[in-house]
Amino acid sequence: MQTEHTLLPTRLEHVPLAVFAHRLTASCAVAAEVAGLIRARQRQGRTVVLGLATGSTPVSFYAEFVRLHREERLSFANVITFNLDEYRGLSADHPRSYGRFMRRHLFDLIDLPETRIHLLDGAVPDAAVDAHCREYEEKIRAAGGIDFQILGIGRNGHIGFNEPTGSLRSRTWLKILSEQTLKDNSAVFGSLAEMPKHALTMGIGTILDARRILLLAFGPAKVRAVEHMVEGPLAAICPGSALQLHPRATVILDENSAAGLHYADHYRWIDSHKLDWQKYD
Ligand code: F6R
Repeated sequence: MQTEHTLLPTRLEHVPLAVFAHRLTASCAVAAEVAGLIRARQRQGRTVVLGLATGSTPVSFYAEFVRLHREERLSFANVITFNLDEYRGLSADHPRSYGRFMRRHLFDLIDLPETRIHLLDGAVPDAAVDAHCREYEEKIRAAGGIDFQILGIGRNGHIGFNEPTGSLRSRTWLKILSEQTLKDNSAVFGSLAEMPKHALTMGIGTILDARRILLLAFGPAKVRAVEHMVEGPLAAICPGSALQLHPRATVILDENSAAGLHYADHYRWIDSHKLDWQKYD
């Protein structure tokens, strides 16, 4: 278990974890890590492709990005973004859409070029949904693939809107939302009746293609999902467990969301007896 700001996994004894005392410190560490790559690529005259999540979890991460832009002159001019998902039926300018969420929390507050923002269009006509999803995949490929994927996790273990039992190989697709997700997210819509029941989302296969993944999970509500994702079997019943397959994924936790891990002492043991693996790699 890492407690320092080096979020890069070293050796895969377990899904690499970084447990922070507070979600704000965690969010700043994640922002610093991504900002480091943005700046390094700027020096090389190259772009960076970010996969972005919405929901309550990444709000302080985006706030830190905005602070870095305003106070430390971090430019996003070389950044390309792809958002994970969008509610079916909502266009990007609908007040409850994830498109609007992104504008409110990030896009309108930084210097990210409009042409480099990619969002799924929840309002695409039924007959065009499959083509729209295929095009999104094609755009990710054309941009060179995702360098850094930011994820949250649902209480039921979903990543993006890949609900339990969806294929671990799925590509961008239309998903029906689970009852748990409808319950968890309906407050934003005022009532369950007004909440969309479907969403477009990158698939689990799409997410696993990212070169680097940082999944953030904070608070006691995420304890069971974190426990299953990190220590449970690799299973479609917990889509987050697919991260066990990824060579460069790190799970960023606070002490509340980490509280259910059964092997926390073992992770500390491993970390305190680190060999100089580079000698062996
Ligand atoms: C949103 C997304 C979802 C959320 C998850 C957690 O783009 O991909 O998987 O990350 O539902 O939501 P919060 O952060 O609101 O608990």
